[in-house]
Formats: sequence, C-alpha cells, structure tokens
Amino acid sequence: MKRVDLFVKKSVHGIDSEASEGSKGGLKRHLGSLQLTSIGIGAIIGAGIFVITGQAAAYAAGPAVLFSFLIAAIVCAFAGFCYAELASFIPIAGGSYSYAYVALGEFVAWAIGWSSLIQYLASACVVAVGWSGYFKSILVDFGLNLPALFSSAPFIYSPELGWHLSGSYLNVPAAGIVLLICLMIAAGVRAATTLNNVMVAVKLLTIVLFIAFGAFYINPANWHPWIPQNTGAFGEFGWSGILRAAGLLFFAYNGFDTVATLSQEAINPQKSIPRGIVGALGISTVAYVAMVLVLTGVVSYTTLGVSDPVSVVLDAMGPQFVWFGFVVKFAILAALTSVILAVFLAQTRIFFMMSKDGLLPKKLARIHPKLRTPAFSAGIIAIAGTLISGLFPVDMLAQLVSLVALVVFAIMCLAVLILRYTQPKIARPFKVPFVPYVPILGIACCLGQTLFFPLTIWVQFFIWMLLGLLVYFKYGFRHSKLRRESL
Ligand code: ALA
Repeated sequence: MKRVDLFVKKSVHGIDSEASEGSKGGLKRHLGSLQLTSIGIGAIIGAGIFVITGQAAAYAAGPAVLFSFLIAAIVCAFAGFCYAELASFIPIAGGSYSYAYVALGEFVAWAIGWSSLIQYLASACVVAVGWSGYFKSILVDFGLNLPALFSSAPFIYSPELGWHLSGSYLNVPAAGIVLLICLMIAAGVRAATTLNNVMVAVKLLTIVLFIAFGAFYINPANWHPWIPQNTGAFGEFGWSGILRAAGLLFFAYNGFDTVATLSQEAINPQKSIPRGIVGALGISTVAYVAMVLVLTGVVSYTTLGVSDPVSVVLDAMGPQFVWFGFVVKFAILAALTSVILAVFLAQTRIFFMMSKDGLLPKKLARIHPKLRTPAFSAGIIAIAGTLISGLFPVDMLAQLVSLVALVVFAIMCLAVLILRYTQPKIARPFKVPFVPYVPILGIACCLGQTLFFPLTIWVQFFIWMLLGLLVYFKYGFRHSKLRRESL
C-alpha cells in the first residue's frame, strides 16, 4: 500500500454513479416525499413520548418538560437542516455515514457508521421492550396474564447488586416483535412501508383524539409550579432538570435521520429527502408539544413516573374513556412497531453501505436475488436484536442512543461547514439558511447537551468505540475499497 491514508474521502462526483446503481440491480427507487415523511414520523414518534416523557416530567423537569421538548426540538432542527442539505447533494444510502465519507474521510465515516449501528440497535431494543410492556397491559385488559418468567429480562442490573439473574427466562414479546419485523424487512421493503403508512396514520389519529378529548380535562393548577424548585441535586428540577430532561427526550426526536439513510430508494432524493426530514420533524414537534400540555395539565406531573403515563391520564379523565383506553394502547403498539421497523430499515442500509465500501464483510451488502432486499443483514439484526431485547433491561440504552445521536449530529453540522468551504461550487438543491451560524449553533448545542449525560453512559460509548477500533484495524482498514482504488 502506497500510503496509509485514514482520511481518504469519497468525491461528490463519484457519488452520482453510486447513486444510479440504485436502479440497476440494487435497491428499488419507490419512495416519494410523502412516503419519506411518513417513514420519518414512523421512526420518530414512539417510546419517547409514550413512556420516557412521564419519567422526565416526574423526576427531572415537572410541567416545564415542555421547555425540554422545545430545547431538544431546536437542537434537532439545526441538525435536521444540515442533514437535509447533505442529503440533497449526496443522494446515496447510508445517511450520516456516507456524508462523513465525503466531508471528513474514511476514519470519521467508519466511526459514525459504527456508532450508528449501536444507536439504531439500542434504540429499536428500547422501543421493543416498551412494546412488550403495552402488549402485556393489553393482555391483562383481556383477562390474560403473561407470567413474568416469559415477559421480563433474565439479566438485570441495580447499583446495589450489580448484574444479577432475575429468575425469568426471556422477554418473549420484545424478542418476538423484533423477529417479526426483521422477517418483514427481509420479505420486502414495499410491503413494510405500506404497513408503516397505516401505522403512522393510526398513531397520528390517536394523538389528535387524545389531545382533543384531554384538552377538556386540563386543570391549569397542575401547571403550578411550572418549573419545580431544584431539590439541591443537579438535574432534579429547576433549570438543570430541564436540561437533563432535554437530553433524555432527545430520544423522542431520534429517527428523523433515518430518512436520509433511504436516499438510494427515494424518487428524486435531492428534493424528497429534505422534505421528508423537515416535514417529519415539524409534525412530530407539534404533536409532542400538544401531548405534553395535556399530559401535565390533566394530572400532576408527580404521578407520571410510570411505564404507561398515557394510561394515568386516561384513568383521570374518567370511566367514560375506558373504551378509548383500549384504542390508545393498540395505537401505541402500532406506533412502537413503526419505530422499530423504520429504525431497522435504516440499519440495514448502513450495513449495506459500509460493507459495499469494504469496511464490513461483503455479505452484509448482499441483496437477495429474488426479494431484492438486504435479507442477510436483516438476519444479523434479528439475532442481535432478539438477544438484547429478550435478555437485557434496556433503560440505560435509551440514554446511550441520545448521546450517540448528539455526537453524530454535531459531526454532521461540521460536515456542512467543511463542504461549503471545500466544495463551494457544487449545486445544492437544499441549502441550510444563515451559514455558518446555524451549523455552528448546531455543533455548540449538540456538544453542550452531551455534558448533561452521566459518566456511565460515556463509558458505554467509549467501550463500543474501542471495540469498533479493533474491527476497523483488523478488517475495514485492510479491505477498504476506496483506499485500494486510490493506490
Ligand atoms: N424517537 C423514537 C421513540 O421515541 C426512538 O421511540
């Protein structure tokens, strides 16, 4: 090898030919703006609003959790604009991974791809465990009790006892939903996206109904004090609580970037991808703000620290809403299903790109000859996903997901800046407004937000990255297609 260039970059011009491979025996182009917005909403609205918001309000921010949502939304908007610009002129699959390959070179691209793998896997597993909770609750409503032996994690962690056995065998519903969704992806993305549209429609309709009914039961006294006084501990109410909750709730916005990973299946990706990202982020923010006002307005925030805060609010609205409670739980199941689907779909695309570039084994880029789907990588995800969601408690992983997302978003904002200065002439169908201010603010906000994460989460992140370094230098570094071509 003539040179050891860790930072070899893909050229934007080379990307055009890669992108056109999409129509020649690769992935099919069939997703328009509306479909992409729908996939975005499918990936965004899930456990964040239906589970984590309650805990964020009860333990960190009180009714001012609304501010936390807005802070997280603003940070995501900066990053969302940057993703939209990058997606508009780098229209290939892989999202942030591919953009980093063009702007910052292979090593950073690999680091982003590797972190995205754990981000997506962990995110889907957190949601799958939330799915299992609501599934159990529906069974109870129908008089069926799924024993804890088959509905909770066998390995659990507590600060006092460390890792220990719970006595359960497997969280069957969590592992089951992961397996089912991977089978769907392997069977064909078109069927999966049609189902996704139905699930997204159901979840938006339910949210609208919940807000419409709930608005009549709001008691403004529940919003006092709007910002509960800090307990003396950092992150427990007051402004530090609002910021810690914003970090937690970042999870709720995770997923808009999955739209960008689907460029190679998008019709006219230069326009449809930015529209999909901005549309999905905007609609989700409106839905979240309205939901939070109802959640904290109908009951006291102190009662929301449970795994199903929406049910607490429905109960408080009175027995006439029992029927609606069933509908809502089913809709939440649909919502969580669509999140897992969208996240796994994006993950197969990252595998696809990384292995096509030689950074991961070739098999992961294999498209099934008849199904024309990434069936092999869906199989790998199925194995990892069923094991994690079936065997482990995953609450800590939600924070890891947010932390990784913030770091990746900061790098994406940096990528926009770098490419504006190194490749100023390239036509960009979508441009971030007020450059360099928006990307700089994006970087500052994302990195600033990471300071509010506990040390244990940073440690998890570093361990994963160290493992990745090993994989890169043992495999990716030697097999990188781009570096071979540049010899
Ligand atoms: N944003 C997704 C959710 O809230 C990950 O479930």
